[in-house]
Amino acid sequence: MKTSELNENEPLQSLDQWEDDLLERYPEPFTKAKEEYRNYDTPERDTVREFYRLNHRYQTYDFVLEKEREFLKFDKKEMPVWAAFDFLNTLVDDSDPDTDLDQLQHLLQTSEAIRADGHPDWFVLVGLVHDLGKVLCLFGEPQWAVVGDTFPVGCAHSDKIVYPEYFKDNPDTYDERYNTKYGVYEPNCGLRNVHMSWGHDEYIYQMMKDYIPEEGLYMLRYHSFYSQHREHAYEHLMDEHDHEMFKWVDKFNPYDLYSKSPVAPNWQELRSYYENLVAKYLPTTLRF
Ligand SMILES: [Fe+2]
Ligand SMILES: [Fe+2]
Repeated sequence: MKTSELNENEPLQSLDQWEDDLLERYPEPFTKAKEEYRNYDTPERDTVREFYRLNHRYQTYDFVLEKEREFLKFDKKEMPVWAAFDFLNTLVDDSDPDTDLDQLQHLLQTSEAIRADGHPDWFVLVGLVHDLGKVLCLFGEPQWAVVGDTFPVGCAHSDKIVYPEYFKDNPDTYDERYNTKYGVYEPNCGLRNVHMSWGHDEYIYQMMKDYIPEEGLYMLRYHSFYSQHREHAYEHLMDEHDHEMFKWVDKFNPYDLYSKSPVAPNWQELRSYYENLVAKYLPTTLRF
């Protein structure tokens, strides 16, 4: 998003501002001090607050079902996998003071950190594709329907969700179908039965669900579900299987959050490895 395109519905100057804010909330333990990442001055913190004000207001149960119907048909566009990365890269933002890195660089830094730790190749692939769903922005979706922490809709909002006070503007808060602890769900029904606020996580999960092992699919689907994987606020909706799989979500999170560095991975050197990896697991074209 170029700054000139901003309006009051697009409070973030770049999608990365949400992720930078995550670093403020969840600084890396023991190693780097949080000051080594972007220091927030008040105006930037305010853009994040404004972003969540919109996100919490508009992400209702009905909104989510509507977006699922609209986007999970995957009838918007068909592209070769690597063209999809180029497409995502048109989201390059020139207002980010931290780095000149584009979206592909964040994906490569994440996947390279996973690879360096010797994890299975499908885990590396998860690192590479986990934010590809941000192409939703290029289909005209507002920021608050693409990025940000995700949370279950159709039941009470936890006060462990960031800026919970903004749920006062969400009509579901006053709808007795949706504002009880379980809402439309059964106790421990399993997250597969739970609708999450709409954004790039659910979208990429649905796109990849036939191609990647289940552990990796959990990482894709719940990587922004901080109120559970960091705060454990929704165990009453999870079943045993979810708990097993969330060990993998927990494993993934530090690579997403803490692998940002100003040193760009050398794409020319990495290219053949990633082309082979993508060819091993994914079809030649992806449908969006
Ligand atoms: Fe993400
Ligand atoms: Fe990410």
